[in-house]
Amino acid sequence: MAGSSSAGFEQPASFTFDAESEAEVAKLIARYPAGKQASAVIPSLYVIQKQMKRQTDSAWVPVKGMDALAERLGMAPIRVYEVATFYFMFNMAPIGKYHLQLCTTTPCWLRGSDDIVAACREATGIKGWKETSADGMFTMTEVECVGACVNAPILQVDDDFYEDMDREKTLALIAALREGNIPPKGSMSGRQNSAPEGGPTTMLTLHFAPEA
Ligand code: FES
Repeated sequence: MAGSSSAGFEQPASFTFDAESEAEVAKLIARYPAGKQASAVIPSLYVIQKQMKRQTDSAWVPVKGMDALAERLGMAPIRVYEVATFYFMFNMAPIGKYHLQLCTTTPCWLRGSDDIVAACREATGIKGWKETSADGMFTMTEVECVGACVNAPILQVDDDFYEDMDREKTLALIAALREGNIPPKGSMSGRQNSAPEGGPTTMLTLHFAPEA
């Protein structure tokens, strides 16, 4: 349904929670005492964003979605807008099918995040941050430390971390995504979680005292 247009994109004219979102929001609200359902606002905004991804291939939070949530949680719409616009993980405008979130904070930078950024730009044609590729497939966002420095550098795609990245792995990942193949997340160097490259070096044998 056509909606209002602002800032170069269209806002949907309406938003209705689908069955999956209804169930998730109900579960979130149930975590809090009666009268405190506003506490569910942050994860519920994420539910809206995920529904938009399911329905439009673009994970974002439209105004009508925030309005529907405000009504559900008994909040003034402006209070939902304030929360949604404060947190970086909520996209207030449509984005590409895949959200490339590039960590450039010091540990990732020391481990080559500049190469990852350059490879993403080369593969997608995107010039700046928060821009979407001409084919609508990718949006590139610069993020601060995502808490996985031990496997730096990190390229987060939607909710998944791709770790131990380099230029070639980045180009291969983007090519795979373009084909609709989502590679397994985690370390791309083949190491076990964040164990040393080449395998674990400690706790190679377990010594448990038998129970008396
Ligand atoms: S600096 Fe990139 S994950 Fe921490």
